[in-house]
Amino acid sequence: MMRWGQLFKRKDLQHLVDELANENRLRRVLGPFSLTALGVGCIIGAGIFVMTGRAAAEDAGPAITISYTVAALGCVFAALCYAEFAAMAPVAGSAYTYAYATLGEIFAWVIGWDLILEYAMACACVAAAWANYLNEVLRTTLGEAWMIPERFCSDPFTTPGAWFNVPAVAIMLVVTIILIVGIRESAATNAALTLLKLFVVLFVIGLGLTMINKDNWTEVPYGKRLTTAELKVNAVIADKLKAEKEKAAEGTGKPAAKLTKAELEQVKVDAEYVRAKLAYDKAEQMKVDMVKAGTLTDEQADAEIAAAKETLDAATAKVQDPSQFDATIAEINKAALEATAEKWGLLGAIISPERLKPLDDAFRTNYTPYGISGIMLGAAIVFFAFIGFDSISTHSEEAINPQRDIPIAILASLVICTILYVLVAAVITGMEPYFEIDTKAAIAAAFRKQAELTGSKVLGYSSILIAAGALAGLTSVMLVTFLSQARIFLAMARDLLLPPAIFGAIHPRFKTPHISTALTGLVICVAAAFTPISDLEKMVNIGTLFAFVIVCVTVLILRFQNPDMPRPFRCPVIYIVAPAGILVNVSMMMFLPLSTWIRLVAWMAIGMVFYFAYGYRHSILGKELVHELAKEGVSPTDGPLPS
Ligand code: ALA
Repeated sequence: MMRWGQLFKRKDLQHLVDELANENRLRRVLGPFSLTALGVGCIIGAGIFVMTGRAAAEDAGPAITISYTVAALGCVFAALCYAEFAAMAPVAGSAYTYAYATLGEIFAWVIGWDLILEYAMACACVAAAWANYLNEVLRTTLGEAWMIPERFCSDPFTTPGAWFNVPAVAIMLVVTIILIVGIRESAATNAALTLLKLFVVLFVIGLGLTMINKDNWTEVPYGKRLTTAELKVNAVIADKLKAEKEKAAEGTGKPAAKLTKAELEQVKVDAEYVRAKLAYDKAEQMKVDMVKAGTLTDEQADAEIAAAKETLDAATAKVQDPSQFDATIAEINKAALEATAEKWGLLGAIISPERLKPLDDAFRTNYTPYGISGIMLGAAIVFFAFIGFDSISTHSEEAINPQRDIPIAILASLVICTILYVLVAAVITGMEPYFEIDTKAAIAAAFRKQAELTGSKVLGYSSILIAAGALAGLTSVMLVTFLSQARIFLAMARDLLLPPAIFGAIHPRFKTPHISTALTGLVICVAAAFTPISDLEKMVNIGTLFAFVIVCVTVLILRFQNPDMPRPFRCPVIYIVAPAGILVNVSMMMFLPLSTWIRLVAWMAIGMVFYFAYGYRHSILGKELVHELAKEGVSPTDGPLPS
């Protein structure tokens, strides 16, 4: 017989606080500075070092700064709710514990399972970003020949033919070992890495500000915006040429030769033509759409068309028979239309692109070349950059004075990071036109390119410093996110929703959850090695946004359910903040692709299987319920009575 009551049985908040007095707790060693350092250490990472560049180039353009502001808003609202909860229930487990106290066991499980995406899987994404920056360091110090070949530095889905991401796995193994050895050591390592990272970010802002060309923000004609399909024109043409060569070699017994230098040059010329033709068509289309939308005057549109025509004429003169590219252009246009719908994420899957496009046009300017969907998709992607402030709350148990320091640390680290992010995003988009921004290691690459351009040795050294600092910074993110994951597992194991022998065991000497850490490390290694990283990033974001929404909901519910519970930190104007948090975070979720939503649902379904196979049968609350039922004379059900 199913015990429905168990699914909604809540953990008593007072009970949570009492648990703190128990044995086998983690050591209380963290003060406000260490907690804020943990937050900043966890927050500044792949988001700013890698995703900002990619999202600016492909999704938002210079408006990536607005994307950052939207994402920050969602996080600030959620952070205020987190802070109230974290101060009220300063035990490890974060949103998982909060859900257990307010909504019941099944919701707690859902959140706990969801947080695996936020912490463990985020760690895998950061490890992949680490591999990009390692290559950037090798390139700037030793030269391109020393870079790790793509096939050992990427997953087989992103780069066909790749083995797996070797550096990502290597760094994850190192991080796992550090964490098994202990929190005190890792807190010290983390503080050092975080300071270095902060220095690098400030350095980027300071030096970058002197190299900004404001025209890159507002004067790059939005007709130049490139879709992902357009960015890949060279690759598409090269692939076609390779395919032709292979076909010609078929049956001759000879292997298909690689593209020669001359052919590669030809690819560039051909690609230039294809791009010019696409730009010209786009300029014509813009005249129709945007003059109608009122975001462009007739004269501006004609000027764009004339400029595009000039470029097209020059490119046409260099290719033989332009009509040979008609099929390629049609293919790219089709992909571009699909990409427009994709930018609208779930909304694009529900509403037709024809109805959404005018909305984009209404918001399109040089500064916002991709319209509203670009800004919102950009926000949903760079949201990754903020993940981590909530990890401070997973360290409540190690805080010396959690009621006061956890809210301070959460808000302080969030404010610090938001300011830095907006400045870095402005610098990066100001240093070069957004479509030229490097999509792998944007920040270091921007300085390297400036160094190459000006021949400045100082700038060359700067780019090495930035890339090395980013490596250190990314390492600290991995340390903290991973640490948080282990804490959540620990909380779940204490409630017997996970096997305590694995997830609850604390090493007698190191005082760390060593078995859980080793096991999680292994899973993260596999994810970093083999999964398509950009899909994984979106999964991490949707999972985290979902967790934030639930936190906003639970804090609100608790104000009604337990109005008298002492709240050392009260979220101000909760009836506005919590609904606003839900609204902004759900909006970002809506801009993530349908495929990401489907994966989230699938992930949750797998979680349910685990819950009913283990947690439901073993949980402490479940056993208490059986006991209560037995006392009332109701026939006990599956699962033994507690001893
Ligand atoms: N916020 C962290 C990062 O950007 C996860 O890497």
